[in-house]
This record gives sequence, structure tokens and C-alpha cells, in this order.
Amino acid sequence: MAFDISRRLVLTGAVGATVACATACTTTQTAAAEAAFPANAPSADPDPELLGPRGGVALLSRNENPYGPAPSALKMIEYAGKKGAYYPDIAGAKLAEMIAERHGVTPDMIAITTGSGEALSAIALIYGQKGPIVAPRLFWDTTALYAVNLGMAEIDRVALAPDMSTDLAAIEAKVTTDTGLVQLCNPNNPTGLVADPVALKAAVVRMSKLTTVLVDEAYMELADDPEGNTCIGLVKAGHNVIVSRTFSKIYGMAGIRVGYTISSPETAAKIQSTAMSWISGVGLAAAIGSYNDTAFLDFSKGKIVEGRKMVITTLDALDLEYLPSQTNFVYFKSGKPANDVAKAMKDRGIYIRGQYMDYTDWTRVSMGKIEDIERFCKALPEVVGA
Ligand SMILES: Cc1ncc(COP(=O)(O)O)c(C=O)c1O
Repeated sequence: MAFDISRRLVLTGAVGATVACATACTTTQTAAAEAAFPANAPSADPDPELLGPRGGVALLSRNENPYGPAPSALKMIEYAGKKGAYYPDIAGAKLAEMIAERHGVTPDMIAITTGSGEALSAIALIYGQKGPIVAPRLFWDTTALYAVNLGMAEIDRVALAPDMSTDLAAIEAKVTTDTGLVQLCNPNNPTGLVADPVALKAAVVRMSKLTTVLVDEAYMELADDPEGNTCIGLVKAGHNVIVSRTFSKIYGMAGIRVGYTISSPETAAKIQSTAMSWISGVGLAAAIGSYNDTAFLDFSKGKIVEGRKMVITTLDALDLEYLPSQTNFVYFKSGKPANDVAKAMKDRGIYIRGQYMDYTDWTRVSMGKIEDIERFCKALPEVVGA
């Protein structure tokens, strides 16, 4: 059955007629509800620890952007909350139009999901059934593992190059028409490395003639040259490529859960129809509010680069090896078991990542609030015994 994406998007979105009129109407409704249910009227702030890090914790383990959401998103969240009684109407279509316009594609090439993770899980289910998912040994594998755990995919991991970059030649050597999917992550997580754009695009084009290639660009907006590195141009040129992006990273909306893919219209329809839920109106409204908020995006990138410099200065001073990150995290070799380093940091209220696979003494620290990165930098010499 052909999937009518415009109908699907009509079911998922909603900015309604005008925000001003809508706000006035909902204010009346809210006042009526508060009069009828005075005990439910907001009286105090909720528990400040209900969401986000507990007091005193420097949360540097999950690649979030604590400077978000943007004020432009928060304004729309308030509006959307008041409209929460209604299933979203046209907001999905509106957001798809905005994304399509930015990237010079048509709205039917966009699938919008509950975080990019939902799209990536759908992709793993769709393509994993056809054959192995070929991927670098280290990548963000959560969604491929989702399909593996359901018995619907296998991951064929390819060793990293000696410099820990994705070994494109070795990956390409594995790919045949029986490959279900090639999954790349650029910049990669947890390494933070950006692939050489010329080599990457040439390899992706060749591999996409044999199978579908997914390029997860969750961190691309944080790279030094997003335009030069993105594979969206390959989608536009008609290659069998899917690019995923998210509002969880530079937009600082990890808790609000909106992501999207760019692909051919047929593939977008498949992803959208395989996704398991409808996106919340609050998420769509927040994404619409901040998608083109360049002042906020520049501010966030500035804070991330500032934090990265602080971490690198500390690592240099301690003479510790690290990878040149173009993301909001740094992968470094502490020389100690990564889980012990994470535990020692946690004892100091600083949360960082533990070990990945058998990379025993490599540790990942995410950027966060500058004062939290300061705490990490101060604690590191003691933790690594320098
Ligand atoms: C590389 C990469 N892709 C995708 C995701 C999923 O993010 P979300 O589902 O919040 O969009 C993450 C989360 O950390 C990630 O690191």
C-alpha cells in the first residue's frame, strides 16, 4: 500500500491558525479548568530533580546541550502545552516544509520521528531483515542492537583504522547486494571524528549502488564545516542514501524527542510508516520554534567549542592522548580502566562514560555547562593519578 506522507504529516502536526488567537482561546479554557479544579491549578514548582541532573551532579556522560532548549522553543512549548488536549494537526507538515526548504529537498523526502533514534530503529528493522548491517566497530549502535535484540538484524562490525577513524575501504570491501544496510555515523560517536569528506562521499556513492547507506549525522551541526561534510547532497543526487539528524544535540532538546531523516520519498514513507508512534505536538512546536534560530545555534556551538578547548588544554597538560573531536564530546585515553575512571569521577559528582567494547582505557567526556567542565578538568589529574 502506497503511504501518503502528506496525510501522515497532517495527522502529526499543528501550528493552527494564529498563535495569538489560539493563545487567547486556550487561556480562557485554562481559566475555566482552573476554576473547576482549583486543586489542580499550578501552585508550586515541581520537584526540581524530576527531570535533568540531580543537584550537585555534573552531567557529562550523554552528549546533551544543557544550554537548550532555545527561548524560541520554550515559547512554543508553552503554547503547545495549552493545546495539549488535541492530537497534532498540521505541525508535522510545517516542520517537514521548513527542513526541506533549508536543505533544498521536497517535504516528502523528510520523515519526522520521536528523536532520530526512532527513525534509526525503524531503519534497522526495515533493512536488517534483508542482510547484515555493516558498520564500523565503534559507532552509535543502540538502534541497530534494537533490531538485533528482536532477532531481526545482525551487525557486521568492521575494525577501525589505526587512527580510530572509520575504515571506509574495509567497510566497502564487505558490502555486496546481500548487505542489508551500511550504517555510518559522521561525526562518529564515541570517537568524535569527522570522516574525510571526499573519500566518504565517493565510498558512499559506490556502496549505495549495492545497498542502502545510512549516514547518522546527529552531531553534524557541531562540525567545523557541516555543509562540506554532510551527505545530504548525495540524497539530492538520487543515491540510495538516508541521512538522519536530531534536535537532541545542538538544539538542546534531548528530552523533547524530535529527529528526522532525509531520503528518497519512497524511503521516507517506509521509515514514517514503520515508526512506532506519533510525535508529540509539544516536540513539533518546539522544533518549529527553534529550527531557524541561528542566534541560539551559534551561542550553543560557541559554548561547546569553549568547553572542548578547556578539556583539550587539560588533556595536553596531562600529556594524555585524545582524538580531534568535532562534536560535543571528547574521547581520550586515560591510561586507566575506563570504568574505574568513570567511578572515581562519579564519586566526585561528575558523570562521564565508562568503557566501550574492549577499548579498556579510552573514556568519553561530554561537554556540558562550563562550570561542570571546570569541575571535570580540576578532578582529572587526581583521578588519573597524575
Ligand atoms: C550518533 C547518534 N545518533 C543518534 C542518537 C539518538 O539521538 P535522539 O534519538 O535523541 O535523536 C544519538 C544519541 O546520543 C547519537 O549519539
